[in-house]
Amino acid sequence: MKLSEILHLVRVARPPAPYGAFRLARCSTIEDVARVARRRLPLGARAYLENGGEGQHTLKRNRSAFDAYTFRPKQPRDVSDVDTSTTVLGRRIPLPFALSPIGAPRMFHHDGELAVARAAGHAGIPYGISTLGTTSVEDAAAQTDAPLWFQLYVWGDRSTIKRAVARARAAGYQALLLNIDTSVRSERIPEKHAGLILPKPEISLKTLFEGALHPAWAWHFLTSPTISFPNIGPPDQRSLDVLPDMFDGTISWADLDWIRRIWEGPIVLKGVTTAGQAEQAAGHGLDAVIVSNHGGRQLDHLPATIDVLAEIVDAVGDRMEVLVDSGFRRGSDIVTALALGAKAVLVGRAHLYGLAAAGEAGVRHCVDILSREVRMTMQLCGATSVAELDRSLVHRDSGPPGTHT
Ligand SMILES: Cc1cc2nc3c(=O)[nH]c(=O)nc-3n(C[C@H](O)[C@H](O)[C@H](O)COP(=O)(O)O)c2cc1C
Repeated sequence: MKLSEILHLVRVARPPAPYGAFRLARCSTIEDVARVARRRLPLGARAYLENGGEGQHTLKRNRSAFDAYTFRPKQPRDVSDVDTSTTVLGRRIPLPFALSPIGAPRMFHHDGELAVARAAGHAGIPYGISTLGTTSVEDAAAQTDAPLWFQLYVWGDRSTIKRAVARARAAGYQALLLNIDTSVRSERIPEKHAGLILPKPEISLKTLFEGALHPAWAWHFLTSPTISFPNIGPPDQRSLDVLPDMFDGTISWADLDWIRRIWEGPIVLKGVTTAGQAEQAAGHGLDAVIVSNHGGRQLDHLPATIDVLAEIVDAVGDRMEVLVDSGFRRGSDIVTALALGAKAVLVGRAHLYGLAAAGEAGVRHCVDILSREVRMTMQLCGATSVAELDRSLVHRDSGPPGTHT
C-alpha cells in the first residue's frame, strides 16, 4: 500500500507547535540558529540552503569581506532613544532590512512562505515572494499585512509573465523585483552530489537514509501537501520542467522595458554588481537596484557586495534607491551597509536558518536577533537614527570605502 493511500485511512498526529521552538531560547546569534537548522535538515536541503556556485569563492568572500570594515564611533552621545526605521520604496518600515525572495522554501519547513510572511507581518518589514515560490502569491498575501514584493524571473514567454504580474497586482503586491543575474542557472556541485539535480531531483538509498536520520523533517515533508510551484502555472504545478525555459539566456533590456510598461508600481533590479549596470537601470526608468550576487549562488568570482556598494551609491544614489544583500548575518553588517549609503538590506539565509529551525517562530527569532544587533551597533556607534549613519562612521582597512578594486 502506498503512503498516500495510508494517509487517507488515518489521522496524522502533528508534533506540538511551534516545532523546534524550545531550542531557540538558547540561540543568541544567527550562527546559533544556523546550527539548529543544520541538525534538522537532510543533506539535500542543506546543500540547497548553504552552498554557492562553482568554486564557492563569491560565497566565502561575502562573509570575509566584512572583516576589512571598522567603525569610527561618535561617542559620547545620548543614545538612549534610537530610531531604527527607514523609508524603502515610499514606505516607512520599522527596521532597515527585508526578507529576500527564496525558491522552494517548503524544502526547509512545511509552512514555507506562510511562516515567513507571518513573521515579516509581525515585524512590519517587507518580504519578497519568488517566482519559484511554493506558496501562491494570493495565499501568502492572505496571511500577512507585511509589504509584499514579487520577484519575477523574466523569461521569453511573455504571456506567462503577463499572467504572473497580473496576479501579483491583484493580490496587492507593492513592487516587482527583476533578476539580471540568472540568465542561466549556475553549477552548484554540492547540490548535485546530494542528488538535487534539477529539474528532476534524484531519489536514492542515500536520500532515504538521510530522511531516516532526520525523522522530524521527513515526517513533515511526507505528511504535508506535495510541494508545488503555483506562481509559474496552475495551482498544482508540481514539476520544475519549466526551469530550462526560464533560465534560457535570452533576457535583455527590451524585456525589462516591456515589463516597465505593464507594471505601474516600483520596479527593483536585483543582481546588480557594477555602477554601469545601475546607471543603465536608472536610464531605463527603474526605481531601485539591489546590489546582489545572489548570495554567492550564481556567477563565481564576483566581488563581495559590501565592497562595491559605495561606488554604486555614488553612481546612482541621487536618482534611485540602492538596496543590498548577500552575506549579511549580523546587525553590524547591516549598519555598515547603511553607513555606506544603502537604503536597506535584504537577508536570505539569515531568515532561512530560522525557518528551517522552527518555522514562523524561528524566522521571528532571527528578525529579533538582527533587530537587537542593529540597535546595539547604532548605540555603540553613537547614532540615534538611520539618517545619522554615514561614511564618516566606517573605514575600510585598505582605504576609504568605495576605492577598493
Ligand atoms: C535557498 C535559496 C534560494 C533562493 N532562491 C531565490 C529565488 O528564487 N529568487 C531570487 O531572486 N533569489 C533567490 N535566492 C537569493 C536570495 O534572494 C538572496 O539574494 C540571497 O540569499 C542573499 O544572500 P544571503 O543568503 O547571504 O543573505 C535564493 C537564496 C537561497 C539561499
